[in-house]
Amino acid sequence: MDNVLGYQGKRAVVTGAASGMGAATAEVLAELGAEVIGMDRAPIAVAVQQAIAIDLLDPASIEAAAGQIEGDVHAFFNCAGLPGPPFTDLETMLVNFIGGRQLIETVAPKMPSGSSIVYVASAGGIGWQSNLAAFMDLFATDGYGAGKDWLEAHPELWEGNGYAASKQAINAWTAWRSVGMMRDNGIRLNCTNPGPTSTAMMPFFHDAVGKSLVDAAMGPVGRYSTPEEQAWAMVLLGSERASYVVGESLYADGGFYGALQTGQIDFSHLMPSD
Ligand SMILES: NC(=O)c1ccc[n+]([C@@H]2O[C@H](COP(=O)([O-])OP(=O)(O)OC[C@H]3O[C@@H](n4cnc5c(N)ncnc54)[C@H](O)[C@@H]3O)[C@@H](O)[C@H]2O)c1
Repeated sequence: MDNVLGYQGKRAVVTGAASGMGAATAEVLAELGAEVIGMDRAPIAVAVQQAIAIDLLDPASIEAAAGQIEGDVHAFFNCAGLPGPPFTDLETMLVNFIGGRQLIETVAPKMPSGSSIVYVASAGGIGWQSNLAAFMDLFATDGYGAGKDWLEAHPELWEGNGYAASKQAINAWTAWRSVGMMRDNGIRLNCTNPGPTSTAMMPFFHDAVGKSLVDAAMGPVGRYSTPEEQAWAMVLLGSERASYVVGESLYADGGFYGALQTGQIDFSHLMPSD
């Protein structure tokens, strides 16, 4: 059976294509025969059909980047993101959620029924359900500026915790927004929750929370994942073969979530030591 995952001749947009998971996803999609449009604020080295500069902190740049896409988009992978420190919590919320949401909403009208969106969240977003009421209020905001204003008026949701809050927001938004996207446009929206992955972002996590805490989030696989492993999880989720998978959070975390849910992770290792 040829073209098992159905990407041959399809147009795919990948953000964060300059590095890590986004670069790996762009490469896998190209190998599968897709026409890949890469987006990033940094130069894109992997072979893509079109490279578009974008700064997800800047709504004008988001609008301009989306405007450079010609024709239909069949698959969208939003991999760009910030790790938290040394970036501020607000910057992290804006790039990881407000900017990502804005780009997705701007590109969605170019996506025909049957197409799919995969948004990279994180295992760091576990527990998002406890903040759902606040997130639903945020999701009612329309556009980048309104989303930013809401965040500035509600620092209690994210201050001191920008990375986890941004990833919780992605999980919650995926669950909520997938309904309208499917009902109105036939688009499947899902997200992935990667565990620790060996990319350029990892040293920032080690600096921010300590290597031992990151290592404790490895799960029973007992190692960090590669960007290629995260890319394949995304590519499988975005494939038309996953046509009945909608609004899901896929944990690509080496078994961490299952272990956590069933009490097989020692919580004391998860707390930063004083
Ligand atoms: N590495 C991990 O352990 C890990 C774990 C869970 C989730 N994630 C998430 O995976 C995604 C990919 O991260 P990665 O690990 O491949 O890191 P990475 O640093 O290798 O890649 C992130 C990319 O995002 C781009 N980017 C950052 N800010 C941007 C902006 N304002 N506008 C446009 N592009 C911007 C960067 O230029 C970079 O190319 C991120 O959303 C990250 O939060 C990473």
